[in-house]
Amino acid sequence: MTKKVKVLFVCLGNICRSPTAQAVFQYQLEQNALADYIDTDSCGTAAYHVGESPDKRAVQAAGKRNYAMQHLLGRQLAASDFFDFDYILAMDKENLGNILARKPLESLAHIGLFLDFDKSLEASEVPDPFYGRSDDFERVLDLIESASAALITYIRKH
Ligand code: 4NP
Repeated sequence: MTKKVKVLFVCLGNICRSPTAQAVFQYQLEQNALADYIDTDSCGTAAYHVGESPDKRAVQAAGKRNYAMQHLLGRQLAASDFFDFDYILAMDKENLGNILARKPLESLAHIGLFLDFDKSLEASEVPDPFYGRSDDFERVLDLIESASAALITYIRKH
């Protein structure tokens, strides 16, 4: 039996972008019959929303596209994540900087920006929708759907 590939999505609060990425990526794994081979999770660099459900606006926008994320609960990035996950993917550069600042030297995880896997996108960051409008949550989903497909293609090749 081969070891599962493990992917962790990281944003600031773990209530908008990274749980959305987890839900969309999980959906695409199932569509591609890869859910037995790749695991996914999400967390935040901050502890503001630990133990909380995702933001209602994110849940609603995801639900309209048939992604389920209401069961997820916020948690903060932990030291063990650097050894448990193969890919630790940040939604924006600020969070990437915070992840790298906490990375233990011995960690072998691939740490980078999620959108960097998607060469079709001009954006390199998923913008924080927390203080935004419903359009901003749609934009988050558009970016995440595209980058999730690109990440699946990448992992399949590697
Ligand atoms: P997320 O969005 O990082 O995509 O989960 C945010 C959630 C909460 C806050 C900021 C961004 N906050 O400041 O509480």
